[in-house]
Amino acid sequence: MSLSPTPNSSFTKDNPLPAKLLENRVLNKDGSSKDTRHLVIDIAGSGLTYSVGDSLGVYSSNRPQIVEEIIEFLGATGNEPVTLPRLAAPVSLRDALTNKLSLAQPTKKILETMAAKTGDAEEQARLGKLLAPEAAEIRETFLGQREFIDLLEEFPGAKLTPQEFTDHLRRLVPRLYSIASSPKMFPGQVHLTIAPVRYESNDRRRYGVCSTFFADRVTRRKTPIPVFVASSHFGLPEDPAKDIIMVGPGTGVAPFRAFMQERVAANATGRNWLFFGDQHEATDYLYGEEWKRWLAEGKMARVDLAFSRDQPKKIYVQDRMREAAAELWAWLKGGAVFYVCGDAHRMAKDVDAALHQIIAEQGGLDAAAAADYVKQMKKDRRYQRDVY
Ligand SMILES: Cc1cc2nc3c(=O)[nH]c(=O)nc-3n(C[C@H](O)[C@H](O)[C@H](O)COP(=O)(O)OP(=O)(O)OC[C@H]3O[C@@H](n4cnc5c(N)ncnc54)[C@H](O)[C@@H]3O)c2cc1C
Ligand SMILES: NC(=O)c1ccc[n+]([C@@H]2O[C@H](COP(=O)([O-])OP(=O)(O)OC[C@H]3O[C@@H](n4cnc5c(N)ncnc54)[C@H](OP(=O)(O)O)[C@@H]3O)[C@@H](O)[C@H]2O)c1
Repeated sequence: MSLSPTPNSSFTKDNPLPAKLLENRVLNKDGSSKDTRHLVIDIAGSGLTYSVGDSLGVYSSNRPQIVEEIIEFLGATGNEPVTLPRLAAPVSLRDALTNKLSLAQPTKKILETMAAKTGDAEEQARLGKLLAPEAAEIRETFLGQREFIDLLEEFPGAKLTPQEFTDHLRRLVPRLYSIASSPKMFPGQVHLTIAPVRYESNDRRRYGVCSTFFADRVTRRKTPIPVFVASSHFGLPEDPAKDIIMVGPGTGVAPFRAFMQERVAANATGRNWLFFGDQHEATDYLYGEEWKRWLAEGKMARVDLAFSRDQPKKIYVQDRMREAAAELWAWLKGGAVFYVCGDAHRMAKDVDAALHQIIAEQGGLDAAAAADYVKQMKKDRRYQRDVY
């Protein structure tokens, strides 16, 4: 297996490259309920290098509207200096809330601070109930539906100072995105496939920090985006004659577009098989034209599609794997490398279960022997996952 080389540039996680966005295109067609973006980032001339399978690390900022609302709830101006761990000099409250701190996932600790500070009897009673030892489950649910701003709104009597408030916030950390391009095909560029996170909780619209920074707030060729390359053990086999099987529904398809570009550019002779799925074929076949072209040109051996909502009963990538079990087993026996990318919570677990089942049934193995087979695949780096 090829391990990614260390990027040979002065730009690192601690010294990110201020890159520019060249393109921001919605991949889904009209009528889709999904919003998946194809983003092109300019790294030309920076010296930043990457291998297919690597991810791009991105530093982003919080939404200005939320920051201003928080400043108002705190009764502050935004110019107040606050001290943050790891930073020698104080920064303004506005800078800290915009660029340095995460405004999500409040913990029990801020409830305790608010309970100690509020002069409002009703708030105190409510906080007391939430903090009771027997209320652990209720408290988790309560906090899980809220960000810090909700607490400032719901407990205005607590009157935290800017410093007391920021002391409860964790650092805003960079997000990683699978690189969807090969440097051989697109030198000087990094392509990403991003699903902006938007949902509602506690009667508030929520916006994923980094995904919606890209989708809504980065101006093409203007806004600097601090990026770095995060090397990965996820990558193509060194031997270009090896077959590869790629399972990547939704945004999970990103690294496999990079793999294919790399294999085509390098004239790799190994066969390529993709399992892709999303909601509807007509609107959500991400990079569909590219897969179709590679298939028509004989560069892909197989593309198996699972459009979950094109029929009454859901069909997922693991259903397509089971349908193709005999051929999948033949590829595995022939030494193919099996890759999975995308949702860790449900998809990757179900795909893993399907893989075990297929190996057991096709190989005539009992469950323990099939598990050993999979373990050996992992040891041999023939089963690689990049799931999130
Ligand atoms: C190696 C790696 C590769 C990745 N590659 C990609 C990629 O190619 N494309 C891509 O789009 N992402 C990818 N991700 C995920 C990406 O890093 C971010 O986690 C994702 O974009 C969300 O970040 P955010 O800052 O927009 O959202 P955040 O501000 O981090 O918010 C996300 C959080 O919101 C909460 N949340 C989300 N939806 C809901 C909901 N419906 N209800 C309640 N709470 C919810 C959850 O707590 C979730 O953790 C990858 C992650 C890793 C680790
Ligand atoms: N860790 C995370 O926070 C995380 C990880 C992945 C995705 N997401 C979020 O999900 C949203 C969209 O992500 P995405 O575009 O990558 O697509 P996705 O939601 O992963 O969906 C892609 C396809 O996978 C299907 N699917 C659902 N459950 C599955 C399962 N158990 N096994 C196999 N396939 C399954 C979906 O079907 P149906 O929808 O019809 O059921 C859909 O057809 C984004 O908001 C993204 O942030 C979050």
